[in-house]
This record gives sequence, structure tokens and C-alpha cells, in this order.
Amino acid sequence: MDHILRLASSAEHASAADAVAAVRPEGPLAIARPHRVRAAAAWFRAKFEGEIFYAVKANPSAWALDALWAAGVRGFDVASENEVRLVAERFGSEAKLAFMHPVKSRRAIQRAYHDFGVRTFVTDTEEELEKILVETGGAKDLTLIVRLAVSNDGASLPLSQKFGATGEEAVRLMNRARRATEDRMGVSFHVGSQCLRPMSYRAAMQDADRAIIRAGVVVDIVDVGGGFPAIYPGAPIPPMERYMDEIHQAFEQMRVAQNAELWAEPGRALVAEAGSIVARVELRKGGALYLNDGSYGNLFDATHVRWPYPVKHIRDGAASRAKLAPFSFYGPTCDSIDAAAGPFLLPADIREGDHIEIGMLGAYGVAMASRFNGFGETELAVALDTPWPTLYSEAETPLAAQAKAKRGKDKSAL
Ligand SMILES: Cc1ncc(COP(=O)(O)O)c(C=O)c1O
Repeated sequence: MDHILRLASSAEHASAADAVAAVRPEGPLAIARPHRVRAAAAWFRAKFEGEIFYAVKANPSAWALDALWAAGVRGFDVASENEVRLVAERFGSEAKLAFMHPVKSRRAIQRAYHDFGVRTFVTDTEEELEKILVETGGAKDLTLIVRLAVSNDGASLPLSQKFGATGEEAVRLMNRARRATEDRMGVSFHVGSQCLRPMSYRAAMQDADRAIIRAGVVVDIVDVGGGFPAIYPGAPIPPMERYMDEIHQAFEQMRVAQNAELWAEPGRALVAEAGSIVARVELRKGGALYLNDGSYGNLFDATHVRWPYPVKHIRDGAASRAKLAPFSFYGPTCDSIDAAAGPFLLPADIREGDHIEIGMLGAYGVAMASRFNGFGETELAVALDTPWPTLYSEAETPLAAQAKAKRGKDKSAL
């Protein structure tokens, strides 16, 4: 699935600016910071008292998957046949795959079960459950997860309209799923992406508890889904520990889940900080910058969700000393919705040939790019810095480690 990402150089660069100087990219340049993924995964593994299933859709790039694997993540929430194949072929049978899309094609179910050993499937309807049972040949070794609809009020990107069983339908489905498997049965939900209210997880778990009691079933898994936020400038988020506290306390209080496992499916929170996109200014018209990347490329979210993505100016040679001014962006395609109003604050003298690094795009950045209008080919380079605020401060970043090693060498040379 790295079909449009081409590794520009195997070097590790000190920053995105260094990478641009070394690579001289013709199209957009994706900056990968695997050390940030490792830090996020280490944090989650230390603080979340359950099993993590990384939501592959957030960023299926090899470098992100490998960084998670290196940090000990073994669970992957996959949503399509291609995601199943990608993870299964990369990591083999040690990877735990959970097929968490509530609507799957029959072939995807067959291949996942028979060819790739997937045993965990989600459903939010009896029709989908039936499909899973038929296409796995009436398998009894399934872990069946019932996705419940919960409030998405605390989320910046609500997802509740589309998926999730409610009321009597949820009760019936839990009963059918419980009877259908001799293995494990559980519940899941999604509080919506970039959830800014830790309490939303507690409320969702309380709702799930009530629904399970009404169904009168024993559940083996409570999966709190994704939704954990990342830091975007000017939009403060509660400390991540509060999300963990709410979840752990609510889990303790769930009467029905005494012996259940706790799962989560974070996407954004594990990879957002770890990637950015560098785009080149092809033309300036007053306050509008025409870039070589846009909403049909790696900037879909940066364009359409209108969050304040952080930006950095990169110029060949001396850095600009001009004051900051507000700019909007146009993407390279002919479509007029390929535009981001911003405002993005950049030096007032920004001009053709300059580059702009747009941060926090490790999640839902390259993952969403298309080839519309012949654009979308993106190169990739690794950087070792940590340019924006992080949720996961590390004792030692790669740059700090290098500097320390150098100091050691310098001393011993004396
Ligand atoms: C089923 C499921 N799990 C997890 C995620 C990841 O969500 P997030 O990136 O908000 O953590 C999504 C995102 O759409 C999802 O649909």
C-alpha cells in the first residue's frame, strides 16, 4: 500500500529542511519520524492497561508499522482485505489482526479467515453476523465483537452516524453473537475521532454496561476503540493520563466485565506527531499560495477538517526574517475545492520555490492521497527531530542521543 510513497534517500536527516536540501524533491515530501511512533507506542503500552490494536487506516506506511512493531505493538485493527494482507505479510502469524470494519465484503471475510488466519471480526447488524458465519464456513473459533453506537458529542470528527447497533437491535445481536461462537465475544464502540472529552469513554462504557446487562450475556472483551487526540496548535487537549484514568476506572466499575479483557484501537494518537508533509510553493497570488500538494493528495484532512495544522517555512539559503502574515493554500488539481482557507501564518515574503512543512500529518495524511489529475506521487525521507509539542516526552530523542555520544567522543579525544 506504499504505492505512491518512494523512499527518497536512506539517510536520516536532522530536520525536514535538511531533508529538502538533500533530496530536492520534485513532488511532495513525506517526513517520517519513526522515533515519535516508538515514543507514542511505548507510552500507550506503559499506561493503557489492556491490549492495543493500532488502527492501520491512520497510516499504513511500512515505516510506521515497523516502528510500532519495534515498540512491541502486536495488535492491528484492519479494515479491508488489503490491510489484512499488508499486516499479515509483513509480520506473519505473530501479528494479532482484528477485522474491525462493520461492513465487509464476502470475499474479504473469506480471505481474512481462510488465508490470513484472522479470527476476530466486528459486526453491528445480524445480516453482517450471518455473512461472517457463512463465509468462515460456520467457524466456531471466532472472536465476535458487537459494535455499539455511543454518543460522539465530545469528538471533533463524529463517526456515530454510520456505524453501531442501538437499543433492542444491539441486545438481539449480542445474544446471537454469544450463541454463534464457542470462543470469545465482546463489545466495541468509537467515541469519534480527536475526542476532547476523556469522560466520553466513561459514558460510553457505562452505556455498554447497561446494554450488556439487558442482553444478559457474558462478554470477554471490552474494546474502547480509537478517538484519542493529538495536539494541534491553539486547540488544547486534556492530558492523556485523564483518558486512561477514565477508562480504567469505568472498566473497574463495569459489572459485566469482571473477567473481560480491555482493548483499544488508537490510530491518530500513535502516529499523528510522527509525520509531516513538505509542499513546494509553485506560485503566489497575493495571500494565496499554490502548492504542489492538496486535498486530493496528502492534505485531505489539512484542507477539509480545518484544524490549525502547524506550518514551518523552509527556504534554500538564508532563512527569511520577514514578519508572519496569513496565507491560504491551493492544491495542484483543477478542482476549486482543492483549497485550504487557513489562515496559515508564514513569512510575508514567501515566494515561489520555498517549501512549507505542514505538521501533525502522520495520521490521515499520506493514507488518504489519490492520483487525481496525475498528482499524488510522494517521496519519503526520515528526520530525527521533534519540531512540535509532543504528548509523549521521551527521556532521550535520537538527536539528543547523538549529541551525547558526540560529547563523549569529544571528551575522550582531549
Ligand atoms: C473502527 C475504528 N477503530 C479505530 C479508529 C481510529 O480512530 P482514531 O484515529 O480516532 O484513533 C477508527 C477511525 O476511523 C475506526 O473506524
